[in-house]
Amino acid sequence: MVKAISRRHFIASTASVAVITSVPGCSGPDEQSGVRPDDVPVGPFGAESTTMDVVEGLDLSGKTVFITGCNSGLGYETARVLSLQGATIIGAARTLEKAEDACASFAGKATPVVCELSELESVAACGESVKAIGTPIDMLILNAGIMALAELEQVNGIEKQFFVNHIGHFALTSHLIDQVVAAKQGRVVIISSSGHSFAPEAGIEFDNLSGERDYQPWKMYGISKLANGLFSLELTRRLANTTATSNAVHPGIINTNLGRHFPWWQRVAGDLIGWTFMKSVEEGAATQTYVATAPALAGYSGYYFADCNPVMPDPRMLDEAQAAELWRVSEQITEGYLAS
Ligand SMILES: NC(=O)c1ccc[n+]([C@@H]2O[C@H](COP(=O)([O-])OP(=O)(O)OC[C@H]3O[C@@H](n4cnc5c(N)ncnc54)[C@H](OP(=O)(O)O)[C@@H]3O)[C@@H](O)[C@H]2O)c1
Repeated sequence: MVKAISRRHFIASTASVAVITSVPGCSGPDEQSGVRPDDVPVGPFGAESTTMDVVEGLDLSGKTVFITGCNSGLGYETARVLSLQGATIIGAARTLEKAEDACASFAGKATPVVCELSELESVAACGESVKAIGTPIDMLILNAGIMALAELEQVNGIEKQFFVNHIGHFALTSHLIDQVVAAKQGRVVIISSSGHSFAPEAGIEFDNLSGERDYQPWKMYGISKLANGLFSLELTRRLANTTATSNAVHPGIINTNLGRHFPWWQRVAGDLIGWTFMKSVEEGAATQTYVATAPALAGYSGYYFADCNPVMPDPRMLDEAQAAELWRVSEQITEGYLAS
């Protein structure tokens, strides 16, 4: 049966095309999703599955989750639903107030912690405080992020998106990875993006981590999200003799606070017509929640997921030499703030 298209729907769809074409992050359906790796189980969920759908029937009591960005968007929804299923949450936010407010709203036990990813002192202090709690971490969800800063901003001389999205999480992981390995089947879930394909042809520009040569907001976001995937790849290699796994995720395109650096008209357009082409937050948080919890994914590591299933990322995210180099450079940048 042909679906009638209302005038309102037509206008919204036309306008969404304008927004899609002006925002590189909104390039329509996941461009890499045509090909699946053939050695990972394909699950029953898809683009329209919600966070609640993917955990239905799962009892997560006794499991501990550490998540960054627990106060907003996808991180909040992920923590909220994992808590509903019985997991204990350690929720990290940039201020104690934000972490406390979020944790107070979760159904089960939740411990608020401060983690400002642009300050390595804060990251190391957070990591050490969680180490002191001492419990195994079943799910380490590296979710916090920023996107498309209009002008070049730097942290310790490094471009800020790369620093917050990758470097801060790299340092944090060094403090928490022993607890992940101590869990029965610990999982690191790193929130990347299909935007990793905005990185230049050669991948990460190690000679331009300052961003001073040719700053472009989306290119730098792409590099930071490529770094998320390469970090997961190298972490997988280093976890080979353990039961722990690491996987990267593209959540979809969702109208969250992530767009705070967009021009005003894009934010207004997103609020008005985003529903015509974006996922809801409940759908957007589903993939990371699925990868963190699905029993069928136990032991599967080094993959990239979108719409709750494994997909092939851009080949640059599979570059083992660049992943190893990224690890080496990240260690240099974070020297003095890693776990001893
Ligand atoms: N939404 C999408 O369409 C989309 C698409 C692809 C990938 N992603 C990825 O999904 C993840 C979650 O994004 P979201 O859409 O949920 O965005 P969001 O609503 O803006 O949430 C981002 C979270 O990161 C936190 N954060 C930002 N800067 C930080 C810093 N310096 N230190 C510590 N935490 C910081 C934010 O804290 P404050 O609230 O205090 O700022 C917030 O809790 C990001 O990694 C993003 O790249 C999102």
